[in-house]
Amino acid sequence: MQKEENPPGFFFVFDGIDGCGKSTQLDYAKRRLTAEGRKVVTTREPGGTVIAETIRTLILSPEYVEMVPECELLLYAAARAQHVREKILPALAAGAVVLCDRFDLATYAYQGFGRHISLDLLRTVNTAATGGLSPRCTFLFDIDVDVAFDRMAAMKKKHDRLESDNRDFFSRVAEGYRVLAQQGGDRVMILDAELSKEELAEGVYGKIVELLE
Ligand SMILES: Nc1ncnc2c1ncn2[C@@H]1O[C@H](COP(=O)(O)OP(=O)(O)OP(=O)(O)O)[C@@H](O)[C@H]1O
Ligand SMILES: [Mg+2]
Repeated sequence: MQKEENPPGFFFVFDGIDGCGKSTQLDYAKRRLTAEGRKVVTTREPGGTVIAETIRTLILSPEYVEMVPECELLLYAAARAQHVREKILPALAAGAVVLCDRFDLATYAYQGFGRHISLDLLRTVNTAATGGLSPRCTFLFDIDVDVAFDRMAAMKKKHDRLESDNRDFFSRVAEGYRVLAQQGGDRVMILDAELSKEELAEGVYGKIVELLE
């Protein structure tokens, strides 16, 4: 839930492992909501502002193989702290529908289940980073790791530092997302990422409209 004193906008997050279809679905939702005349702001994590995008470059650069998990966690948190206050909260205050590619669920999945940092520590760090802001709903695109890897290979996408990690890492992250989503109640909607793009877009749009009404 968003904070009670939160402004009038709505905050939705698209999440899941690399190649699950986040960007594709965020774009569908953006186009449909914009066509209906809604004010839509799209953004991503890590990133969304000049400072946070600079931190993103540091986090994802394949060069820094020596980066320790705690450094990675705090860089993500630093980027989020700036992103929330500089971009997301002002957009919500202006009444926008904010669509964000990844947010707090990714921290628990990647740094918790992937990197084995305690969930308690992650909760503390996330609370500082978000200032208590939570998405109204996070759409989790659940996908088999092998299918996601095949999609990435088909795109011939150059791997960043995290994507260069092995299948075991991504299997833990994917399983972490499932566990977290099941604990997330109505704040997380799990979608089968192997459905067609159009079917997924209908599911996402239906939920957004339900929550906007
Ligand atoms: N439902 C789908 N069925 C089949 N292919 C899909 C589907 N959704 C997306 N794809 C394809 O899978 C690839 C990855 O999709 P996309 O870039 O949206 O994923 P992503 O989650 O944003 O990945 P990344 O984390 O790397 O940014 C693209 O080639 C896209 O066209
Ligand atoms: Mg993407």
